[in-house]
Amino acid sequence: MKAPAVTTALLPPKAARTAATDLRQELLRELGDDPAAADVLARWDRWGQDLLSGLDEVYVDPQLSHRLLHEIAMAHRARPQALRERDLQRLLRPDWFQASDAIGYAAYTERFAGDLPRAIEHIAYLQDLGVTYLHLMPLLQTRSGPNDGGYAVSDYDEVRSDLGTMDDLEELATHLHGAGISLTLDLVLNHVAREHRWARAARMGDAHYRDYFWTFEDRALPDSYEHSLTEVFPQTAPGNFTWDPELNRWVWTTFNSYQWDLNWANPDVLCEFVQIILNLANRGVDCLRLDAIAFLWKRMGTNCQNQAEVHAITQILRAAAHIAAPALIFKAEAIVPPSEVVHYFGRGPHAGRVSDLAYHNSFMVQIWSALATRDARLMSVAMSRMSRIPTTTAWATYLRCHDDIGWAIEDRDCEALGWNGWAHRNFLCDFYTGQQDSSFAEGTVFEQHPVTGDRRINGTAASLCGVGREDQPLAVDRLLCAYTMVMGMGGVPLIFMGDEIALCNDADYANDPHHCDDNRWIHRPLMPWEVANEHGDFSGHQVYDRLRHLIAVRKDNESLHASIPTEVHATSVDAVTCFVRHHPAGDMTQVYNVADHAVSIPAWEIDQYAPGAAREVLSGEVVEPVDGMYHLAPYATLWLVRD
Ligand code: GLC
Repeated sequence: MKAPAVTTALLPPKAARTAATDLRQELLRELGDDPAAADVLARWDRWGQDLLSGLDEVYVDPQLSHRLLHEIAMAHRARPQALRERDLQRLLRPDWFQASDAIGYAAYTERFAGDLPRAIEHIAYLQDLGVTYLHLMPLLQTRSGPNDGGYAVSDYDEVRSDLGTMDDLEELATHLHGAGISLTLDLVLNHVAREHRWARAARMGDAHYRDYFWTFEDRALPDSYEHSLTEVFPQTAPGNFTWDPELNRWVWTTFNSYQWDLNWANPDVLCEFVQIILNLANRGVDCLRLDAIAFLWKRMGTNCQNQAEVHAITQILRAAAHIAAPALIFKAEAIVPPSEVVHYFGRGPHAGRVSDLAYHNSFMVQIWSALATRDARLMSVAMSRMSRIPTTTAWATYLRCHDDIGWAIEDRDCEALGWNGWAHRNFLCDFYTGQQDSSFAEGTVFEQHPVTGDRRINGTAASLCGVGREDQPLAVDRLLCAYTMVMGMGGVPLIFMGDEIALCNDADYANDPHHCDDNRWIHRPLMPWEVANEHGDFSGHQVYDRLRHLIAVRKDNESLHASIPTEVHATSVDAVTCFVRHHPAGDMTQVYNVADHAVSIPAWEIDQYAPGAAREVLSGEVVEPVDGMYHLAPYATLWLVRD
């Protein structure tokens, strides 16, 4: 095993590194006769220091900067002209993903379209809905057999053969760009499949590749690490280490036994990934979702998540991408507590230098909690405690994704309301699996921990809202109320495929030999194109139409730009929360009733943020209080602006 964490204290002084100016000359030489060499150098001047300071924090290898420079120059030289133009456009509009017109959609290619070529046929559908950002779930070559929904990559240079080829991917990217849609792909960088060539070489006894992984000859170190580690899949893949008989060693496997964690302390791993990232960028990928990024760095005595080195490494990767292919941005998938997740946007010296986007897991959980309790106070407490994120970054807001929901609700937030954190999380599990009288939901349990009893939840947004239940006439309003919050927060709202037509749970996954071992497939249904109308879209479907309208209104309201934070305020009515946005283009006060009953609220409580008669932009009507009160229907949503 390679020596892990190199502490900053042990590093040679910065002066020991080749001066940035020498590297500039070297980059110029490497770029040769590239006609855009001057542009790349200007970008080196802008982001080179980010790269070097990131390296200083983590790695001691003095050759590393030269190797990275080489990768950057080679990747840039191979960058197609159309993408160089895209670089320029993105540099001129670096806030493209923050603007109110940025609308995301996430789908498995095979569930959405069958394969990549057929996905092109459905671009018009995405345009009709208003989508400008498409996240296609893992589509690079995976191991055969169980592959964690594609998150066990066996080849980063190939597309999964059932979905198409790299050329098909490029073709799709070109079509998407033409339609004003950016393409996001997963970058699985914490682990590779046991079948990846690095892991195969390691098993064949190649020491160079064995150092790409965390391997141990006996249980001594694994046991020490286990003391402070948690388990991601406690039921189906307990423990964090797997004995590999071929390797004849234990190997670190945070997720499934066939997903081998990479040793990011090894500079070769860093170089490999810089190459992978820039290759994908050159295929036309606009955003990389940094899968399970929290787990990248291991440190004894910790839970091996959110270590400081993760952020320095992200800074290196992002700087390399910005110099070679600046159209590319990063989205962090770090499902970690609110106090930690903000670091993925960068804090302190990393502020604004790491991921551009990060999933707002806490907000998502709070929406579900508010709907279940018919009480928005906990959301107000939790959201008000979130730290500010850099003004150049944005949250990816969402209601559902392909994963389960873990009840990431902090004890101290519950305590602020006199609630018990454990009891509340337990209540939410019961509620969303229909075990509470007040429940409207049809979710299922995911990975109940055999010792702690902790449970997570599966189910589509529609099923969790009760859309499939005859006794839930308000289910659609509930779903739309939740999506209006997702759209109103600022950031890139991500629609998970099928939510726009309220697709319910797909029990069929259990009959599919490829899916039956992972019940998260219950909320990854097939797109029922056969029920689409003659235009190939779902207009006429009430959820689709209402969501499309919501999207159109959002796009029209510049004040939803993500550089402005949303203030979340509780009111005297437990079920009502206000999202307040102060933007020079116009202030907006959003009002939500998360309950399935009508409520009335003193007008001043809302008007204090936007006094005077207000136009409600979702309905286009002027809203005025009656007898000093606003009367809100169940699941009412108001976006109030003053002209
Ligand atoms: C991410 C993915 C999840 C996967 C895990 C391991 O959390 O969203 O589906 O199981 O990473 O790659």
